[in-house]
Amino acid sequence: MKDYSITGTTRLVGLVGYPVEHSFSPVMHNAAFRSLNMNYVYLPFPVARGHLQSAVRGLFCAGVSGLNVTVPYKEQVIEYLDEVDDYARAVGAVNTIVSKEGKLVGYNTDGPGFISSLTGQGFDVRGRKFVLLGAGGSARAVAFALAKAGAGGICIVNRTVARAEQLVKEIGVWVDAQAMGLDHGALGREIENSHWLINTTSVGMFPNTHQLPLDAQLVRPGIGVVDLIYNPLRTKLLIEAQRQGLAALNGMEMLVYQGAASFSLWTGVEGPVDVMKQAIMQA
Ligand code: ATR
Repeated sequence: MKDYSITGTTRLVGLVGYPVEHSFSPVMHNAAFRSLNMNYVYLPFPVARGHLQSAVRGLFCAGVSGLNVTVPYKEQVIEYLDEVDDYARAVGAVNTIVSKEGKLVGYNTDGPGFISSLTGQGFDVRGRKFVLLGAGGSARAVAFALAKAGAGGICIVNRTVARAEQLVKEIGVWVDAQAMGLDHGALGREIENSHWLINTTSVGMFPNTHQLPLDAQLVRPGIGVVDLIYNPLRTKLLIEAQRQGLAALNGMEMLVYQGAASFSLWTGVEGPVDVMKQAIMQA
């Protein structure tokens, strides 16, 4: 890894959100730039409520090469952009902005990042059946990406069923989809007929690491488990899956792949996934 100094030609990318101090993105992207000897830096920008438009416009006016957008602005930022790509528009959230010929264009790399985290490890998505726990922002990104990638079926399971039904209505145009509540029996039957169980809820996240998003008995042979949580890296759900010898992937994979996709949108260079993963592990 080569050291570099900030010079007159250093380019800037960064993250707007609030708060941003705990983000892994600066560590991940700066390691990627260093490893490829690219004269870029990535900085976090804590943007207070009410200042999003001025911050985004101002940063691009000052020449930044690209931005990531995080909580709580992924939805709101859309109204300040000139264009939004079809997938991000469908999800209703943007996490990456690029300036193209003076126009601010929004993308969402969360869903593609999720797909790559499976395909990157040799798993097929096309024709596979998925049970998604949760119907919030992360579930939307994953559900639209699965639909686009040719999943064979998606069952959205949520505590608030109306939210699951709304998402099913939206993705139902592209994929066989159904909604249900956290009903033990029905969920068990659905899991038996599916290939993957994906947790997109925050249940099991630090500090509530003793919690499970569903009954442990419902995790059974024949299903692979993905938990989008990356703090801790091994949630109680993933520990249960590993105990049974099932495929078990954590949220760090998606984090790294969405980062690599944003990296290539800003720079035109493929994001070095292994370097980015290693940087997060060290952090
Ligand atoms: P994110 O953007 O991370 O997806 P979100 O939009 O707030 O966050 O969505 C959180 C998801 O976790 C929702 O599906 C939420 O269920 P509700 O729609 O019923 O609120 C789910 N969730 C959060 N805490 C939960 C809990 N204790 N039990 C079950 N589901 C929970």
